[in-house]
Amino acid sequence: ANEQLWANSIGFHNSYVIHKDEGIDAAIANSENNELPQIAVAANEGKFLKLAAQTIGAKRVLEVGTLGGVSTIWMARGIPKDGRIVTLEVKQKHADVAKQNWELAGVASQIEVIVGDGVETIKSLRPSEPFDLVFIDADKKSNPTYYAEAKRMLRSGGVIIVDNVVRDGRVADLSNDDPTNVGIRQMVALIKEDKEVDATVIQTVGDKGFDGFLYARKL
Ligand code: DHB
Ligand code: MG
Repeated sequence: ANEQLWANSIGFHNSYVIHKDEGIDAAIANSENNELPQIAVAANEGKFLKLAAQTIGAKRVLEVGTLGGVSTIWMARGIPKDGRIVTLEVKQKHADVAKQNWELAGVASQIEVIVGDGVETIKSLRPSEPFDLVFIDADKKSNPTYYAEAKRMLRSGGVIIVDNVVRDGRVADLSNDDPTNVGIRQMVALIKEDKEVDATVIQTVGDKGFDGFLYARKL
């Protein structure tokens, strides 16, 4: 019942503030045709990623967890033509579908995907210039590592956004010791002790249920 109300309500608001984007629609359809899991960011969150990139003037973006590259397209919509996104993906099939999707959306030239284990890859990155924006949306158990490595490569004033930190309230349920929830708890514990970032968690409800994202700014 609540889910239907949330979906109807976000649909109402989306119809006013989210403009039709044929590239994103085509990417979602192509991901579905290729049987990727239907867990891409919701439209209102994708739009938020685009607006955040524009708000901080991001030109260099890192993403952890590509899947079909829908969130990547949203962020590409928020960076200049000479902006660049590096995105990390563990599954070759996902990366292949994502590349098709970026072609469909006209953003392929701005994006580089690195296929491999996310923890190994992110630890090996030595960018010539720091990133302005990092979006973490991969295996949640590794979030402490992704967060620490993202911060290592983030400029002062840069932003880290982490998807799915609420998960129907399971993260806050300490009796739930699923590695996913434990990983997210460990990450927020790092942030509690971290004097170099300022952060908030925004809970969300909508067509993807009850969840939330973390927004952290490096001082
Ligand atoms: C799952 C993962 C996600 O990144 C998401 O946004 C929703 C669900 C999952 O693994 O179930
Ligand atoms: Mg997610």
